[in-house]
Amino acid sequence: MLITLDEAAKRLSAGEIIAVPTETVYGLAASIYHPEAIQQIFALKGRPSDNPLITHIANLDQLAPLIGAGPDDFEALCKAFWPGPLTLVVPAKEEMLPPAIRAGLPTAAFRMPRHEAALQLIAKTGPLVMPSANLSGKPSSTSPDHIEQDFGKAFPILESGQRSCKLGLESTVLIAKEGVWTIGRVGAIPPEELESVLGYRPSFGMKSSKPLCPGQRYRHYAPQCKLLVGTEMPTGIDVILGFDEREYPPGAKVLSMGSLSSPESAAQRLYTLLRLLDIDEIPEAWVDTNFPEQGLWASIRERLHKAAGKVDEI
Ligand code: TXA
Ligand code: MG
Repeated sequence: MLITLDEAAKRLSAGEIIAVPTETVYGLAASIYHPEAIQQIFALKGRPSDNPLITHIANLDQLAPLIGAGPDDFEALCKAFWPGPLTLVVPAKEEMLPPAIRAGLPTAAFRMPRHEAALQLIAKTGPLVMPSANLSGKPSSTSPDHIEQDFGKAFPILESGQRSCKLGLESTVLIAKEGVWTIGRVGAIPPEELESVLGYRPSFGMKSSKPLCPGQRYRHYAPQCKLLVGTEMPTGIDVILGFDEREYPPGAKVLSMGSLSSPESAAQRLYTLLRLLDIDEIPEAWVDTNFPEQGLWASIRERLHKAAGKVDEI
């Protein structure tokens, strides 16, 4: 159910949860001043309580009271990428952020989204936590239809005038540790772009036995459908997530991620296609992962591998 900006602000200030569009994916929003609403978000998503949430701000004035000393290059990163799809994990002013948001950690994650309606809303309500608006472990939501699929037709969604999220892939999470920034989750901003600001290419902390982002421990983005990822088509498959330029065996049903020249279109379609597999009750599909390694493609590959349950192979 689409609701206006005023209605959305009223509900959040009364301690309710609503869905809010951003340029990456839809978020399930609650005010940081309503700890009971934050608890409810964990329950609604079925999210483990040790997986912390991102606090979204509309301007730097809202951020200042919530953080401790900003690490090296913090301001340069904010200036270069905010508003935008970069989440920064920094020391938190612990008394200002309910422990459930931080999962008890001394750090907290922050992001200023590049989305007009979201920014207007957050400017009115104050900071909002917004995990992706999906059932835990399932593909994220990039359109109001996806929210309806997971939370029902009556669930309130902030109206934005847009049918789908512009980027379609979650923010990149960058974590400050001992003076160095490390990627906790790959996402809409590729490491190559971060390098231009930091002077070094941040590494991806996923490979260590203890992931930097608690969320990385859990299965994510996964449809019911069994996904087989790889560059060679397995036998006995009749549904393919593929590309416009490729020729696949006749008779196979191809769900297109778009052109191999546009990682942007593959990112934008990704979660809609993964959801479609379940709507059509497809038991098994092959994902053609014969695409480039760099830039946004690396994030798309990580999502597809996770969706297929192949967490350790990246
Ligand atoms: O694009 C996005 O980031 C979307 C939109 C709605 O803004 N939000 C989103 O939230 O993807 P969520 O909850 O699905 O993912 C948040 C990620 C998780 O992997 C979590 O573990 C990590 O951020 N995170 C949050 N706080 C952290 C912290 N203090 N230390 C390390 N990782 C943290
Ligand atoms: Mg998520």
